[in-house]
Amino acid sequence: QELQLNLEQIEKGGFEHFMLKEIYEQPSAITDTYRGRLLVDEGVIRMAGIDDNLERFTNAKRIIIVACGTSWHAGLVAEYIFEDLARIPVEVEYASEFRYRNPVITSEDVVIAISQSGETADTMAAIKLAKEKGAFVFGVCNVVGSSISRETHAGAYTHAGPEIGVASTKAFTTQITVLTLIALKLAKAKGTISKTDFHMHLSELETIPQKIEVALLSNDHIKEVADKYKEARNCLYLGRGYNFPVALEGALKLKEISYIHAEGYPAAEMKHGPIALIDEDMPVVVIATRKGHYEKVVSNIQEIKSRQGKIIGIVTEGDTSVRDLADYVIEVPDTIESLTPLLTTIPLQLLSYHIAVMLGKNVDQPRNLAKSVTVE
Ligand code: G6P
Repeated sequence: QELQLNLEQIEKGGFEHFMLKEIYEQPSAITDTYRGRLLVDEGVIRMAGIDDNLERFTNAKRIIIVACGTSWHAGLVAEYIFEDLARIPVEVEYASEFRYRNPVITSEDVVIAISQSGETADTMAAIKLAKEKGAFVFGVCNVVGSSISRETHAGAYTHAGPEIGVASTKAFTTQITVLTLIALKLAKAKGTISKTDFHMHLSELETIPQKIEVALLSNDHIKEVADKYKEARNCLYLGRGYNFPVALEGALKLKEISYIHAEGYPAAEMKHGPIALIDEDMPVVVIATRKGHYEKVVSNIQEIKSRQGKIIGIVTEGDTSVRDLADYVIEVPDTIESLTPLLTTIPLQLLSYHIAVMLGKNVDQPRNLAKSVTVE
């Protein structure tokens, strides 16, 4: 028993929980995802799984992404990146819906299945269906040799290392990293990105691990925010564009480990429903980086404020407009718009972590949830 405990403590590497350890591992996990692939000096992205099947991708009429849970959120981020950079139409599907919908799939489609564990039953069933219909299926998995990595035609591993905490953290950011590398590679092959833009993306990508280190420095401040809102019964998360899926993921993290009801919404949809919920007891986490639809998100913040909602803004370093309106702001370093999800996700992970710890919940093994769902 004692030996067992010590072993676990060693595995946690000085952190109180696996989840916290895995949050802090993200800079090195992403560096591992890049290793041998992102060659900034040469201006090249090397990925055998893509190089060997390049024509399948460049000729694809569309890409269908299938996944569940957090991996589905990574797929939603990828939708923005693929369409933006590589100009390929993308659909993102819950694997569980896709498999039973008699979906229209042809041999000109490329299906990308995203799965940390590589064992999720619904995702596996979606892959088998897509293969039957003649699509080329590419896997983005973390667990090497997993069932999904074996069932797909080709793939790219995230190389995030073992993820033990049930709430996914480093798997999410490394999935986004792999998908960004793929999108850039395809954009270059298809000529939909300029040389300068391609190089700018590559060198910006390289700085992300170090920028995540900076984002992690807000941990103590985030703890204060967590303490302030830990008694909330509901919480709303808003974001736009690339950060809409991040809002969904932030809400999912809070639900999973603190059991506080949370919803993620595209900021502009607030007026079609969620705004009715806003009062002085409603904390609203708004991702408002100084990119994309910044001004519009700031006006959403004004609407929340005029209804006495409590505002926690996730902002770019040095921001003043949101700071003037919000109850709290949490800063992340500046980067190009397509890479902001890799930074804005960090404070949301820490916020849910601290709230759950303060509420005395079992952070690494939340009730009713499993790390990998191998049954329907
Ligand atoms: C479970 C886990 C989630 C995960 C989802 C999909 O619900 O608790 O953290 O996002 O399955 O898992 P996968 O291994 O396919 O990414």
